[in-house]
Amino acid sequence: MAAIGSAVGLGNVWRFPYVCYKNGGGAFLIPYLIALFTAGIPLMILEFSLGHWSRSPPPLAFKKVNKKLEWVGWLSSLTPFVVASYYVVVMAWCFAYMVYSVNLLWEPDAENFFFNFLGKTSGISEIGGISIPVLLGLIAVWLSIFIILYKGVDRIGKVVAITVPLPTILLIILTIRGLTLPGAIEGVSYYLTPDFSKLLNVNVWLSAYAQVFFSLSLAQGILITYASYLRRDSDISNNAFITSLADAGTSFLAGFTVFSVVGYLAYVKNVDINHLGIAGPHLTFITYPTAISLLPFASAIFGMIFYIALLTFGIDSAFSMIEPMASSLNRKWRISKFKATAIICLVGFIASLFFTTGSGIYWLDIVDHFIANFGLVAVGLLECITLGYLYKVSLFREHANKTSDIRIGRWWDLLIRYVVPSILVMLLILSIVENLKKPYMGFPVYALIIAGVLPIVFIVIASFVLQRVKR
Ligand code: PHE
Repeated sequence: MAAIGSAVGLGNVWRFPYVCYKNGGGAFLIPYLIALFTAGIPLMILEFSLGHWSRSPPPLAFKKVNKKLEWVGWLSSLTPFVVASYYVVVMAWCFAYMVYSVNLLWEPDAENFFFNFLGKTSGISEIGGISIPVLLGLIAVWLSIFIILYKGVDRIGKVVAITVPLPTILLIILTIRGLTLPGAIEGVSYYLTPDFSKLLNVNVWLSAYAQVFFSLSLAQGILITYASYLRRDSDISNNAFITSLADAGTSFLAGFTVFSVVGYLAYVKNVDINHLGIAGPHLTFITYPTAISLLPFASAIFGMIFYIALLTFGIDSAFSMIEPMASSLNRKWRISKFKATAIICLVGFIASLFFTTGSGIYWLDIVDHFIANFGLVAVGLLECITLGYLYKVSLFREHANKTSDIRIGRWWDLLIRYVVPSILVMLLILSIVENLKKPYMGFPVYALIIAGVLPIVFIVIASFVLQRVKR
């Protein structure tokens, strides 16, 4: 349940529907499902198996594989920590918007979201002041993360029993509301009308793999950490299938939620859907609330439901990003869980303050772009190479098979050793080429280095340092 909570997050609501629409609509489901079965599920089985076999958080798990590899574990625990530093900021925006929706205080337009609410400055070099509503939201989110994590895994279990089913139910309610609006059918046909010619484009396939990676929380040390808490007789493969399919199902459903309402907005405003923001912050804080505010009745309630759903979807992804570091510090140096969690949440809070300023949204965009396109892919690649070649990967398969109903065959070894790494290498090369061709979004090069390259360099160095510090 916690793994599902980690996987299902903002990525399912604001990323999948859009990626699907852009890459061939209904036809995209083919590369997506292929990516899920050839990379997502196999890698998840590997991570679950490693965590379950070693009963340790990532650094110690990798160390059990090979003494020299502890740093790979640190790297895979530090990466999600960087993701957390901005992911919680987006949750803080949701938090503030949830409060606003009580009496529809928002003026849902771009002007208001960017300039009044975020205090967005005219360019990245102008820092601007801290946005107070965002700061308050941020404190609330970090505090919740701390309270959920510091007592250990039992509390995580109790929390996810609520925060996983609840937003799913809310999403279903919103979908039913959306689908009964005029224009909804046009919206949905935008989402799903298949364009099979897109399947000839290699970028569409890479997008499918990238989406699967991000959405399943792979290569983040999270699934390794969670699996280390499982009972000895827990079913590995079954859990991997359930987690992945639940995540894919939620993404698919969210497409209906989003596009039905976007279709309604296009209908009311009599514009083409293409002119509306249908992904990322634009969708969540401008387009969707605009549509909601135009509902014939109970718009405040549906607005609240939407933000509560996002917050509860997001919170278990957010704390899952912290848990690998907390668990690793706790296990390597016997720092109490309370202290370890406190230190990490405090450092995380300070780091995320960076994103509450007027230029925060620019920085957030850059960090996200680099860590999602390089960090995640590179860690995944390292995992496949280290576990696939330096260790007999078949031993992990045998470990998983010992307790699993679904028995995996030799084909799995081939996927981990050849298929997944080749795809990751392609993804990596493609990103590098694109980023070298022109600076991302036209940002100044110094900003790309500070926010894109430095965090990655920093976590690589930190990983080696953490490996060297004696127990
Ligand atoms: N899978 C989460 C989502 O779809 C995001 C996430 C990324 C969580 C990386 C953990 C680690 O929103």
